[in-house]
Amino acid sequence: MNWLTAALGSSVGKKLMMALTGLAFIGFLAAHLAGNLLMIAGREAFNGYAERLQSLGPILQLFRAGLIGFALVHILTGLYLFLQNRKARPVRYEKDTSAGGRTISSRTMPYTGLLILAFVVFHLFHFTWTDKGARTIFDLVAAAFNQPWAVLLYAAAMIVVALHVRHGFWSAFQSVGASHPKTMPAVMALSWTAGGLVAFGFGLLPFFMLIRY
Ligand code: HEM
Repeated sequence: MNWLTAALGSSVGKKLMMALTGLAFIGFLAAHLAGNLLMIAGREAFNGYAERLQSLGPILQLFRAGLIGFALVHILTGLYLFLQNRKARPVRYEKDTSAGGRTISSRTMPYTGLLILAFVVFHLFHFTWTDKGARTIFDLVAAAFNQPWAVLLYAAAMIVVALHVRHGFWSAFQSVGASHPKTMPAVMALSWTAGGLVAFGFGLLPFFMLIRY
């Protein structure tokens, strides 16, 4: 097991952990988006899906525990790498250009990450850790998106999530060693697709709910 501790303790190991946990979150987001899009099909379809999910019982709890574990690894490792990076280069570059593959989304990863953490905590209080009373989950979401401030807040948050996902996806493929010049255009196209799906799929849903219900 010593080799495993040494591997995970190394900087490459940490980047690999960021990549694998990040890709797992992208998997979660894809499933979450597919479920959420059922709102377009209406109350019955979405509530039916939510009930089926709840009926998974212990499997759902296991999945939630896994998600929390992955989140802890992703956040703590990301924070560690960010602090290490700052220690290694305390003076910021005078000219902060996009050269060397550094783009807005790559430079802002730690900050978009923290904003997403704040959004997820808010989101859980908004939809999960709230007293639903006699309302179904569909009615709760419809009522929430009846308020324009919530629609705008979610839309803004989805742009932040999309930026993080776009760069994270690309960077994860580099960390797992798939950065061959031949595969790079495909990885780049996939990362833009993932970011675009988050921005448009999740981002337009609150507007749809506001207009439709
Ligand atoms: C328009 C965008 C979104 C909508 C309408 C939405 C809606 C929902 C709903 C209805 C629930 C279930 C609440 C319950 O049954 O207790 C939920 C749970 C959750 N959402 Fe979202 N969501 C959105 C975006 C996101 C994003 C972008 C993330 C992550 C960055 C996210 C993370 C979560 C998590 C972690 C849970 C809890 C899952 C669980 O407990 O099993 N959501 N969301």
